[in-house]
Amino acid sequence: MGRRKLVVGNWKMNGLKAQLGEVEDIGALAARHPAVEVGLCLPATLIAPAQGVKGAAFIGAQDCHMHGSGAHTGCLSAAMLAEAGAGWTIVGHSERRQDQGETDADVAAKALAAKAAGLKVILCVGESLDVRDAGHAESVVSAQLLASLPEGAAADWLAIAYEPIWAIGTGRIPTMEAVEAMHRALRAALATKIGAEADGMRILYGGSMNGDNAAELLAIGDVDGGLVGGASLTAAKFAPVIAAA
Ligand code: G3P
Repeated sequence: MGRRKLVVGNWKMNGLKAQLGEVEDIGALAARHPAVEVGLCLPATLIAPAQGVKGAAFIGAQDCHMHGSGAHTGCLSAAMLAEAGAGWTIVGHSERRQDQGETDADVAAKALAAKAAGLKVILCVGESLDVRDAGHAESVVSAQLLASLPEGAAADWLAIAYEPIWAIGTGRIPTMEAVEAMHRALRAALATKIGAEADGMRILYGGSMNGDNAAELLAIGDVDGGLVGGASLTAAKFAPVIAAA
């Protein structure tokens, strides 16, 4: 145990320089809660400008390419993101799995590319509503996690985010019992591959986490933090989530 809570905002395709004041306020919030590791995964265009205002928050990216360089128009390598000031990156978010057709193997390769560039990684997994309704959520998400897990996965550079797809941006979340069962299942799945290292790996919950539900979610034993979308866009909304952690 002894896993430090990790609370990360994912701004998705939101944010211009006009919003750097929110980054600054969130960085100041992070300083007031040193027991919690707080970060913001920003649009790539804001990673460098955020460096001067990030305070105690880390700045991350939302994706990286699996290759280090080459003919990949419009893409960004992990080294580019690191040079801009990212310390972390998300990989395998369901929006990219769906919109860009990223496979489990792609996600594992991106995680390795990120690690090679010195980035820490949040690897996302989660089920569709059909899978949840069919009663297969735990087995499907566990399999997705094992298929996406990079070689050498270890708690000092990798965290997992469980994000039920149907809970993202909808205001709906699973029952606390379902979240608890899923996180327990994912840690057990991790243990089959990385043994005792699974005990130290942080498993975040994501999907409509906000100031109203964060305390209850974060009180679950195997929930080690949150990956927060809409409620991370302003310091006012993010503050109660960070405080709950
Ligand atoms: O990565 C975070 C995310 O997908 C959850 O978004 O807006 O439901 O908190 P949201």
